[in-house]
Amino acid sequence: MTNLSVNINKVALIRNSRGANYPDLVQFAKDCERFGAEGITIHPRPDERHARYTDVPALKKVVKTELNIEGNPIPKFLKMVLANRPHQCTLVPDDPDAITSDAGWDTIKHKGFLTDTIAELKEAGIRTSIFIDPVEEQIEGAKAVGTDRIEFYTGPYAHDFGKSRKKAVAPYVKCGKLAHKLGLGINAGHDLNTKNLSYFLKSVGNVAEVSIGHALVTDALYYGLHHTLLMYLHACRGK
Ligand code: PXP
Repeated sequence: MTNLSVNINKVALIRNSRGANYPDLVQFAKDCERFGAEGITIHPRPDERHARYTDVPALKKVVKTELNIEGNPIPKFLKMVLANRPHQCTLVPDDPDAITSDAGWDTIKHKGFLTDTIAELKEAGIRTSIFIDPVEEQIEGAKAVGTDRIEFYTGPYAHDFGKSRKKAVAPYVKCGKLAHKLGLGINAGHDLNTKNLSYFLKSVGNVAEVSIGHALVTDALYYGLHHTLLMYLHACRGK
């Protein structure tokens, strides 16, 4: 079974567009959990255009499942994560002005930095995950830096899904097997939706968690939040 962590950045983006606390991010997180989500993810970027650093303590107080904080581990980010101690911290090498995360870590080039950062987070009792492309030497590099889990960057899979789903998923199947053999937990995220999610999970296997934001929040506009969560949970249950 794969846990569903709802990335609530898009809800923060709507809130920020008007200045007031509406929609209320904390209430949205609580409702996601009430409707079955097994985790809440936020990704505060340096410009705080979606989730803000100040959203973290408020979410930490109410999230009863798992809070996952994603982001580029710049000093300000690490300080905030260590102060709030989420269940999981996902390290992402995104540029400050990136529209969205668009590549995994080079675990070989950044070996020293990742090793130190992961050790600091684990020391604080925080499970670690690092955003990774499905490349075997990067998976081996992920093992070497001591992370608990990897998060597959699934953007390219989603992009090529319509052309040939079998070809699109192949690198993830191969690297998923390697990660599992090395004892790494497997998360996945980016551009996953109701069309491509279940095929990915069935093909790769052993996926502990998916974090999904953009498509899920968009689907909620059409189907409502409760119904949308049921659709995604259904896919996570292998149906
Ligand atoms: N994982 C990471 C590291 C991300 O940066 C994002 C987007 O913020 C996601 C997962 C979720 O992607 P999406 O919003 O496309 O579902």
